[in-house]
Amino acid sequence: MIQKTIWDSIEETQTIFIEKDYLTIDYIPETINNRDKQVKKILYNFKERLSHNKRPYHMVLKGAFATGKTVTVNYIFNLVEKEFPNVETVHVNCKKNKTAYMIYLQMYKKLFNKKMGFGGLSVSSLLDDVINKIVKDDTVLIIALDDIASVKDNKDLNDVLYNLLRGHESAKEAKICIMTITNDKDVIFLNPDVQTVFNKMDVDFPLYTYDEIHDILKERCRLSLYNGAISDEIIDDVARYCYNQGDLRKGFDEIYKAGLNAEYEGSHKILKSHFN
Ligand SMILES: Nc1ncnc2c1ncn2[C@@H]1O[C@H](COP(=O)(O)OP(=O)(O)O)[C@@H](O)[C@H]1O
Ligand SMILES: [Mg+2]
Repeated sequence: MIQKTIWDSIEETQTIFIEKDYLTIDYIPETINNRDKQVKKILYNFKERLSHNKRPYHMVLKGAFATGKTVTVNYIFNLVEKEFPNVETVHVNCKKNKTAYMIYLQMYKKLFNKKMGFGGLSVSSLLDDVINKIVKDDTVLIIALDDIASVKDNKDLNDVLYNLLRGHESAKEAKICIMTITNDKDVIFLNPDVQTVFNKMDVDFPLYTYDEIHDILKERCRLSLYNGAISDEIIDDVARYCYNQGDLRKGFDEIYKAGLNAEYEGSHKILKSHFN
């Protein structure tokens, strides 16, 4: 006889969530509301340039914490790769990839479709391989350096930008578009030789209003929770909390945790008491 364990007494009730993943940080929604202006500005640059097989203008995306910078870029990258077969996009999270080597490695992995097995390649050979490949394949490379201020060493940061910007100078045909993403309060110091070649467009991400936060939370609840599992009143409260804290991300977390508490009790509704 199979021995029952404590795990067998824990049953998933599934009273609240249709799909929990929709409330996690990595989820990229199919539509992005309340960022029309930013999305259109970026898409216009891409369409206008890529349809003539030209490198799009570099861009600097700026805004406070949780204003949708990362999600917007990932959403747009999906769209661009579908629309333009000769474009490769690489989103680098500089909080996780803080050195020039790690940044080039993310580009290398994407272009050479590799997960592992690149040990021993030097920084410069990673970069050379990437540039040679995009020239050979006539690929336009769009790279987003997200949270770029997290790059540990200012020299690395300037080297990366300089080398990528210069990529299309040294190998004239290399088409590389750079998007840097920074938090409002971050300061990055660019060397003069970087500054002079870094012609860019600014895309600002202002703080969301209370109504926008409410709308985003409500839409995410519609996707991830069963109909009626959360009341408008509770969404109002969570939206107000996020607005006051200046952090939309907390809203998803709080709803997720409250949803788990509700499910654990077998409840079909998230109640105020389910929030800690
Ligand atoms: N306009 C939006 N529509 C849907 N979800 C959004 C929107 N803006 C932000 N989010 C969500 O809010 C959270 C924070 O957004 P994120 O893009 O990570 O912010 P930032 O990169 O500016 O710090 C993420 O979970 C993201 O999916
Ligand atoms: Mg981000």
